[in-house]
Amino acid sequence: MKLLARARELEAQGCSVVHMEIGEPDFATPQPVTDAGIRALQQGETHYTPAAGLPELREAIARHYRDWFGVTIDAGRILITPGASGALQLILAVLVDPGSQVLMADPGYPCNRNFVHLYGGEPIMIPVGPEQGYQLSADVLEQHWTGRTRGVMLASPSNPTGTVVCGDTMQAMLDFIRQRKGSLIVDEIYQNLCYQGKPQTALALGEDMFVINSFSKYFGMTGWRLGWLVAPAASIEHLDTLAQNLFLAASTPAQHAALAAFETPAREILEQRRQEFQRRRDYLLPALRAIGFGIPVEPQGAFYLYADCSRFTGDSFVFTTALLEEAGVAITPGIDFGNYKAGRHVRFAYTTSMEKLQLGVERLEKFIKAKT
Ligand SMILES: Cc1ncc(COP(=O)(O)O)c(C=O)c1O
Repeated sequence: MKLLARARELEAQGCSVVHMEIGEPDFATPQPVTDAGIRALQQGETHYTPAAGLPELREAIARHYRDWFGVTIDAGRILITPGASGALQLILAVLVDPGSQVLMADPGYPCNRNFVHLYGGEPIMIPVGPEQGYQLSADVLEQHWTGRTRGVMLASPSNPTGTVVCGDTMQAMLDFIRQRKGSLIVDEIYQNLCYQGKPQTALALGEDMFVINSFSKYFGMTGWRLGWLVAPAASIEHLDTLAQNLFLAASTPAQHAALAAFETPAREILEQRRQEFQRRRDYLLPALRAIGFGIPVEPQGAFYLYADCSRFTGDSFVFTTALLEEAGVAITPGIDFGNYKAGRHVRFAYTTSMEKLQLGVERLEKFIKAKT
C-alpha cells in the first residue's frame, strides 16, 4: 500500500509508472453486474439485508457450487460478507481465543497473521519453498502442531505465489486436522482464476471446514466489498450472531448486483478476462525468467508471479524502491508476505495491460543492466 501511494505520488508529479504491484483486476466490473446494481438502487434496494445475506444470493452461490463443481451445499451454510476480509474476520473471531495458534504458509496473504493477532492468537508462519509448491502439507502440519493449535489457514491458488494445493495433499491435510480436532480454513478467492485444469473446491472433500470466497478478484468487484463463506452447519449460528454485531450485513446494492454475476452475459465477459490473464501470465513468466528472475514453479492461478531476485539483490525492499524511483516500475517486495527468504523475493502482479507489461519488462531489463 505504501509503495502504491509512492507510485501515485510520482505519477502526480508527471512520472510514468508501470503498475505491477496492484492485487486487483484492472478491468471494471462487468457491465451486466453494474447495471443490476444501478437497477437495485433505482428500485430502492437500500435497506439492510439479513446479516447472513440475501437469501437469493445464498441460493445462487449454492447453485454455483453445484453447476461448476458438482458439490451440493445447503444455502443455509453460506454467509454473505463484506469481502473475503469480512469472512476471514468472522471465522477467526469464532475459532481464535487468546493464546491459540493458527498455522499458515510463509509467504502468504499478509492480513491473515494480523487477523489472528487481532483476536489475541499467535500466527505460526511456516516457511514453504518451491520444493513443496509454496504450500503446506500434512507432514509440515504435524511438525508444527502443538496443544495450542486451533487450525490451519491456506489459500489455493495462493497470494503471492499463484500455486494450488492438489486434491491429495488437501485430503491428507484434512485427515490430519480431523484427527487433531482442529479446523481447516481454505481461502478460494482466486479459485476461478485458474489456467491449468478445472478449478477445484476443497468443499468436495467434506462439510467440516471453512471456505472463503469473494466477488473481488474473478468477478472484478473489489470496490463493491462483497464475499462469502461456507461453514460447517454447527458454526452458522455463531457466525450469524457475530455478523449481526460486527457489520450488520454486507452492502445491499452490491448483493443485488452480484446476482447478475452468475448469469450468462457476465460469465462470458469473465471467461474472456480469465483468458486475458492467462495470456499475460504466459508472456510475463518466460520474460522474467529470461531476465534472470527465478520462478521455479509455474503458478497455476491468481494473477501473481513470485520471483527470486537474489541474482540482483540481497534486499528486495531496497530493490523495489530503487526500481520504482529510478525506472518507474512498481512491484511488491517479499517482506509484505512474510519473513522466509523475503529479502530474496518480489511479487509481480499482471493486473495491467499487455502493452504495459511489455513496457515494464523493457524498463526492468534496462534497470538491471545498468546495475550489474
Ligand atoms: C488471498 C486473499 N484473501 C483475501 C483477500 C481479501 O479480499 P476481499 O476482501 O477484497 O474479498 C485478498 C485480497 O487481496 C487475498 O489476496
